[in-house]
Amino acid sequence: MTLATQTHGTAKAFLAAGAFWFLAGTVFGLIAAIHLVAPEFFNNVPFLVFGRTRPVHVNTVIFGFTASTLIGCAYYYVPALLRTPLWSERLGWVSWFSWNLTVLSGFFTFPFGFTQGREYAEYLWIFDVSLVVAMLAMIVNFTMTVATRIENVLYVSVWYALGACLWSAANYPIGNVMWHPLTGALPGLLDSVFLWFYGHNLVGMLLTPLSIAVVYYVVPRVARTPLYSHTLSLIGFWTLVSMYAHIGGHHILQAPIPNWLKTISVVDSVAMIVPVFTVLVNVWLTARGHGARLWRDPAARFIMAGTAWYLVTCIQGPLQSLPSIQKVTHFTNWTIGHAHIAVLGFSGMIALGGLWHILPLVTGRPLHSPRLVNLQFALLTFGLAGFFAVLTAAGLIQGEAWHNGETVYRVLPEIAVYMALRAMFGVSILAASAIGLYVAIMSLRPAPGSVPATSCGTSLHPAPNSVPATSCGGTPKSSCTATVPDQEAAP
Ligand code: HEM
Ligand code: HEM
Repeated sequence: MTLATQTHGTAKAFLAAGAFWFLAGTVFGLIAAIHLVAPEFFNNVPFLVFGRTRPVHVNTVIFGFTASTLIGCAYYYVPALLRTPLWSERLGWVSWFSWNLTVLSGFFTFPFGFTQGREYAEYLWIFDVSLVVAMLAMIVNFTMTVATRIENVLYVSVWYALGACLWSAANYPIGNVMWHPLTGALPGLLDSVFLWFYGHNLVGMLLTPLSIAVVYYVVPRVARTPLYSHTLSLIGFWTLVSMYAHIGGHHILQAPIPNWLKTISVVDSVAMIVPVFTVLVNVWLTARGHGARLWRDPAARFIMAGTAWYLVTCIQGPLQSLPSIQKVTHFTNWTIGHAHIAVLGFSGMIALGGLWHILPLVTGRPLHSPRLVNLQFALLTFGLAGFFAVLTAAGLIQGEAWHNGETVYRVLPEIAVYMALRAMFGVSILAASAIGLYVAIMSLRPAPGSVPATSCGTSLHPAPNSVPATSCGGTPKSSCTATVPDQEAAP
């Protein structure tokens, strides 16, 4: 069996890439943070200045770390839930190569000043093309797997995974204005409307559904209980679709965009509490009574922490959409705090939970070191909580000062200590990412003389709701007997 046709090969490759990009992207985050504390530290080496390292950091953690890891999870659970092999591992690899080519391009273009210069849409046109190719390949692969499936029922995780690919394949070319290859932009104010329609949907229609899909997959399995309500899961899905896509205007409330667009984006930003709470209530009621088991499982611990960050993010999000609040918080570190608890706390934590849950399933072996995974969790939680606290405080100081007519320059000394603390907490996050990469590599390394397991949770067609190996280090066999009946755990 060649690498290109190996069962779960694509899933493994995306998961490994995600663990690698987590470290690589975070290194650039720390470089950017150090620059904000000590601008002379890198001696003004052009490719290490803030304006160039920031896009490498942001694009790598979004497309490289969170998205790649979550896609890797989807490459496992979509076929598993459908009890059908992935339609084409070869096509899976096509998506892997073209996706990672785009992420890699950021390291060779942005630091040298080659960028399309619009936040989250910085990749050069040719690399936009390779990202879209990757998404089209995923759509074909997942759709054909659905079409050839053995399992009739489409569990909600499959809905979210397919939805995320479809929406993003449309959102990405629109937001990147791909019909203007040279600039990737439109003239005038319309450009920011397009950009923030896209930027918002990048997190809302790619990271969010892929993260929720993993939560819905892992929590019932580790808790060994059926999902609390399939009806709620579908309500959450359809309200996300109907309310999320058009609220990007809340990023540009301070710009002279049409009032109706601002009104819609503010009203539906507040209405986002419907899909968010539908998901959270459903997941937490599923988890009720199984807290100890979920906490003991290193992967589920990440997932449950991710849902807690989701709650905080989505209370903060609607609040900062209100013009009266955003008047103070906009353009400050408050938003950077929100971005980190959202992309790292919510999506990143859940991506890591998915990684640690699914790695034993694709390799047929327990994780290399659950203790190191627990250490990663502790370092990440410490670093992120610190980030959130200091960035929120710095943001309020900036917002309040600017609101009172103070200049940017004079506020800088006031937030210097918070910037230094952010860099310090960043070291903890960096250590967490390095530990994660080490555990992922060691877990993926073929054990000497081992025969890949094909029974139990690692079989080609594991029952969608069977409960195979958890990531707590128990052998797959020891925990693969508990099965949740199909009709209870699938919609
Ligand atoms: C569902 C409720 C949410 C609402 C109403 C919301 C609202 C907002 C608003 C109003 C801003 C702009 C703040 C400003 O510029 O002043 C913002 C920024 C941001 N949000 Fe959210 N958010 C929500 C959830 C999320 C989630 C789930 C994610 C990630 C998965 C996320 C990621 C981000 C990011 C990365 C930014 C920074 C964008 C930039 O570069 O300016 N948000 N959010
Ligand atoms: C060592 C750890 C990290 C450090 C020191 C760090 C630092 C930074 C810095 C300095 C910025 C630019 C802020 C600005 O424009 O003022 C930034 C932006 C950002 N970072 Fe990080 N970061 C780290 C880890 C991460 C991780 C792991 C993620 C996601 C998984 C992440 C997601 C983001 C996002 C989405 C933005 C854009 C925020 C916005 O524009 O609103 N960061 N980070």
